[in-house]
Amino acid sequence: MKWISCSSYEDLSRRAADMLLHTIREDPHAVVGLPTGRTPVGMYERVVHECSREYHCFRDVHTFNLDEYIGISRGHPGSYFSYMKKHLFDHVDISPDNAHIPDGTAADLGLECARYEDAIRRAGGLQVTFLGLGRNGHIGFNEPGTPFASRTRVVDLHESTRLANADLFGGGQVPTRAITMGIATILESRAIVLLAGGSGKEDAIKRLQSRIIDESFPASVLWRHDNVTVLAAV
Ligand code: GLP
Repeated sequence: MKWISCSSYEDLSRRAADMLLHTIREDPHAVVGLPTGRTPVGMYERVVHECSREYHCFRDVHTFNLDEYIGISRGHPGSYFSYMKKHLFDHVDISPDNAHIPDGTAADLGLECARYEDAIRRAGGLQVTFLGLGRNGHIGFNEPGTPFASRTRVVDLHESTRLANADLFGGGQVPTRAITMGIATILESRAIVLLAGGSGKEDAIKRLQSRIIDESFPASVLWRHDNVTVLAAV
């Protein structure tokens, strides 16, 4: 694990954006895993800014988001579909067919999870996946206790996770379930970049640094991967 201590949130965002831009400049057909949450907002801002000066930045890039809520429409302001449109997709030339997000409104959610895994495989697998870090160590929506062998599936959200994300629902009800890529799905990405920043993350970052690998702290599994970069700023 390559650990980079960032001097500020801006520094973290700049480094993360540079890594994403490097990936898609090196390989304009790159397949990239993308996160949501507050932490990556600065990364997306910078990527959008840089891409506004480049021709066909995202034209042939494929993206796969880590997760999506169940029980709200895609147009709901709290959905990750809306988040991605607002922070990235509406501002770059990505083809809607290449911008994948699990469909939390699918009639058959089990089928949707299998379809998502299949779409990642058919695209050639994830090259680089960017992750945020939940305060309880979750990655995607893989909450503590998730088996490391898990694949894309429907999960119940912890109360603490719903609370942490409540402000993104403007006081409304945070959904109780989501679809998330599994831990094994994430680990198959050839490279992983963990964005570990923001208030309330100090304990999670310390626990990750302890190197103790345990299912009670999902992010700890990243020690088992041979190409992980952590960008840490608290
Ligand atoms: C949500 C997302 C995660 C994200 C986490 C941390 O639960 N599903 O993928 O990493 O929040 O979010 P934030 O960056 O807002 O702290």
